Amino acid sequence: MEGLFPHLDPCRVLYLPSTDSTNEECKRQAAQGAESGLVVIAGEQTGGKGRRGRSFQSLAGKGLYLSILWRPKAASEQLFQLTAQAAVAVCQTVESLTALSPAIKWPNDVLLEGKKLCGILTELEWNASGAPDCIVLGIGINVRQTPEDFGPDLSPIATSLAQHLPQPPRREEVAEVLVARLDRLWASFPQAREEYLAQYRRRCATIGQPVRLLRPGGSQEALALDVNRDFSLQVRLPDGREEAISSGEVSVRGLLGYT
Ligand code: BTN
Repeated sequence: MEGLFPHLDPCRVLYLPSTDSTNEECKRQAAQGAESGLVVIAGEQTGGKGRRGRSFQSLAGKGLYLSILWRPKAASEQLFQLTAQAAVAVCQTVESLTALSPAIKWPNDVLLEGKKLCGILTELEWNASGAPDCIVLGIGINVRQTPEDFGPDLSPIATSLAQHLPQPPRREEVAEVLVARLDRLWASFPQAREEYLAQYRRRCATIGQPVRLLRPGGSQEALALDVNRDFSLQVRLPDGREEAISSGEVSVRGLLGYT
């Protein structure tokens, strides 16, 4: 993909055919003084990272593995909202390049027909004096994977653009549109929250679904009612009580397939 981003400023894009994780490379660049807006893209990741310590399959030439560096201007508690808004930016990217209609599984997986198309991992780095130093937002979009590429464990829950289109967009095209969407997101963050919230709710497949809440102390079934203004998930418990769930505390599993 090298040199194939005609609409992106080459000074801000670092393309690596292979790296451990674009999030890790972004953090290394940040430690060396890289500016806000740096984009790291890899052809493959040998140690792609997912949320909650999981790995993210990152086969060569199959997906878009991209991280963007931002120097914080928002309080760290707003970062959850940033990640949720990035899920909207991914949906907008796919919608502008294809006729597909992705959905969002709360908090920030992007789905096509109930299977995972994209995962997002946001990391915050602190400087020596304890202040937030940089935000690294990493996005993995499955572009060309076949079910065989995913293998028996992932193919029931993961999908790619190629599985829904005769001619999927090139990863470079997806990268360019996505970076434009992310630039817009950051430029309007956090003021444009209401606009992103409306876009998020419109696409959120979790609303109205039964979910299982996984807490350190055990699991509990609930009904997902809505996404609140801070992007937490409002749920109703079996005893009728309602609770706002934020993803740092509770993991939420759908009861109907991956959704
Ligand atoms: C998840 O689904 O749990 C999050 C997956 C995030 C994957 C992306 S790929 C680019 C960036 N680099 C990583 O190591 N992870 C993110």
